[in-house]
Amino acid sequence: MSDATAKGLLTEETKTRIRELMAKYPKARSAILPALHVVQEQLGWVPEEAQDEVAQMFEMTPAEVRSLVTFYYMYHRKPVGKYVLKVCRSISCWLRRSEDVEHNLCEHLGIECGETTEDGMFTVVHGECIAACVNAPAIQVNDRFLLDVDPDNVSEIIDRLKAGDPRYPAAVESWKRPEESKGE
Ligand code: FES
Repeated sequence: MSDATAKGLLTEETKTRIRELMAKYPKARSAILPALHVVQEQLGWVPEEAQDEVAQMFEMTPAEVRSLVTFYYMYHRKPVGKYVLKVCRSISCWLRRSEDVEHNLCEHLGIECGETTEDGMFTVVHGECIAACVNAPAIQVNDRFLLDVDPDNVSEIIDRLKAGDPRYPAAVESWKRPEESKGE
């Protein structure tokens, strides 16, 4: 937030990036969703004050922007941890024990779903299908996919992230060890 001023939360860099996005579409407001991602990249979440600034840039009402931020669950409406662990609870993952994944993650971290650990490292949230059903149960770590999660070994995910897992961030990764995948 280096160059954010009393005039608002968005930095000049963020505003420039948003204007560049707006210029890419025949109708500038088509860039509203990626613009909100840019805001989230800067601030880590999308506070109402920033929503209002975006609304002004897009000549939309604050209520219109609010409706998008509340509809799409990928936008955070409160501060979150460095790693947001989004547990898919849709049907394929549910059948493959996503409830246990979520429960064990929360228990290991000492938080409830929707909460953030005191050190600001981890937030656990619910998610809907992330199109990785064939590798259920699946979770997202920020914008990365972790597939074939072992519900009984979620502590390993946390340990790896805490240790700065050299395999993170892979865009998509199976959490199965190579030897587990060989027989398939
Ligand atoms: S049901 Fe979880 S990824 Fe589709």
